[in-house]
Amino acid sequence: MQTVHRPLNVGLSTAPLSETPADILFLPVFEEDDLADVADLDAATGGEIGRARARGEFTGRLYDLFVTPVVSNAWKVGRVALVGGGPRDQCGAEVIRRVATVAGLAARQRRAARAALVARNPGDLAPAALQAMAEGLTLANFEGGAYKAPGDRPHTWLETALLVAPGASAGLAAAVDRGRVLGESSNVARALVNEPGNLLTPCVLAERAAAVAAGTGLSVDVLDEQRIEQLSMMLLMGVARGSREPPRVIVLRHEPKGLDPGPVLGLVGKGITFDSGGISIKPAEHMDQMKDDMSGGAAVIAAMTAIARLNAPVRVIGVIPAAENMPGGRAVKPGDVLRGAAGKTVEVKNTDAEGRLALADGVWYARQLGATHLVDVATLTGACVVALGKTTSGLFGTPDWWVGQVQHASELAGDRSWPMPVFADYREQFRSEIADMTNTGGRSAGAITAALFIKEFAGDLPWVHMDIAGTAWADEARPYQPKGATGVGVRTMAELAMAVGAWRDMK
Ligand code: BES
Ligand code: MN
Ligand code: ZN
Repeated sequence: MQTVHRPLNVGLSTAPLSETPADILFLPVFEEDDLADVADLDAATGGEIGRARARGEFTGRLYDLFVTPVVSNAWKVGRVALVGGGPRDQCGAEVIRRVATVAGLAARQRRAARAALVARNPGDLAPAALQAMAEGLTLANFEGGAYKAPGDRPHTWLETALLVAPGASAGLAAAVDRGRVLGESSNVARALVNEPGNLLTPCVLAERAAAVAAGTGLSVDVLDEQRIEQLSMMLLMGVARGSREPPRVIVLRHEPKGLDPGPVLGLVGKGITFDSGGISIKPAEHMDQMKDDMSGGAAVIAAMTAIARLNAPVRVIGVIPAAENMPGGRAVKPGDVLRGAAGKTVEVKNTDAEGRLALADGVWYARQLGATHLVDVATLTGACVVALGKTTSGLFGTPDWWVGQVQHASELAGDRSWPMPVFADYREQFRSEIADMTNTGGRSAGAITAALFIKEFAGDLPWVHMDIAGTAWADEARPYQPKGATGVGVRTMAELAMAVGAWRDMK
């Protein structure tokens, strides 16, 4: 296996453009921009960028690129690239982040190890904008193809990236650093999610979690099948029964030193390393994609590393119930009844509704460990993809202020999400004749009933469920995102932890 992402050394430079050392310098240009403020740069290219603009070769359309050499010896930049920012009034942090990724990828394609990106507009000096640029550039230092021959790579790696912000105060370096950490953490999650199910089993996921947590200050605890059974987490055990691979519960803890007593954020991520559907087996088409069914778990692991590296001022517990969902001679069958650690019994009507079973025990364990505020993240339902598509994660939870906090964090993170209702009326859809509940609520409102199932285990704690079934995986490559894992949820959870001051005292 080859590493599929590299850390990126991102710095902030307040020197003039002409003194910026870089193989390639990216200048974001909106559609309506004239280039009057960068006349010296135009001159350094022998007037090429002005002419490209004048003849309409480069219009500033979003993600368009125009690359030309710098001919002046007085400059330390080899090449200049104009990168399209689209219409000025549509530019927010998300556009900035994506434009930065497009720039980073273009640098790598052109064998440039040192890139620079100009913070050209007054708004670019806001901490959120510089953070987004650092995130975007770091996200570019990632690719798939972990198992291709080493020579078979279209890109080289970026080594350094400079954000060129003449006039910026040095205090903004913290925002840049935060962006770099969040970008790297997103890449950690994407790398895990892209791994195939044969190589990333629950045990391996636990090893990988321990490896990425090493040196961050996080504590790591991995529960094996004996411990899981001792704790009576028989819903998770039930999911794992049909597989030769034993389940694991991965527990990561961020415990800042000297912190006064306060809230404990519990992050629970679905860690199904492959979801065949079990005895209620899925159709063959697209089943391969179900290696991504641990995206929520990967997001929690990666978010925990970001939270520790940024030393978020809040206690955080990450819990990843991990299992493989397979049909086998000992597999759970439709009609079987299981009892979870919380004591509730569940009639398994459909073994493909396994995520909620694993999460129920995971949420119970997070509460057991002292969580006061819960967020679970899961590729939970096809119904959520039907409802919100591939761009927007579903948010389900109570109370509204907690949902609002998670949505706000997701907005900052560039992980778009939208709230869905969790009216108690839907609960009758999972009534069982024989047990406390069934694990499926039928076709109608499938994403909501799945969320309500998990809610049964959250007690009265503030709780949000984020359904990332549509958003965890990109079916098509985009200029800023290769086909495959997206890393959704990582930055949302990290931003939420960093924003503890906003929600600590909310009721
Ligand atoms: N992992 C799937 C959900 C999923 C589907 C994620 C498509 C990404 C893309 C989940 O375990 C599942 O199979 N859910 C079932 C639930 C049903 C049996 C009640 C579904 O959505 O069909
Ligand atoms: Mn399933
Ligand atoms: Zn699943």
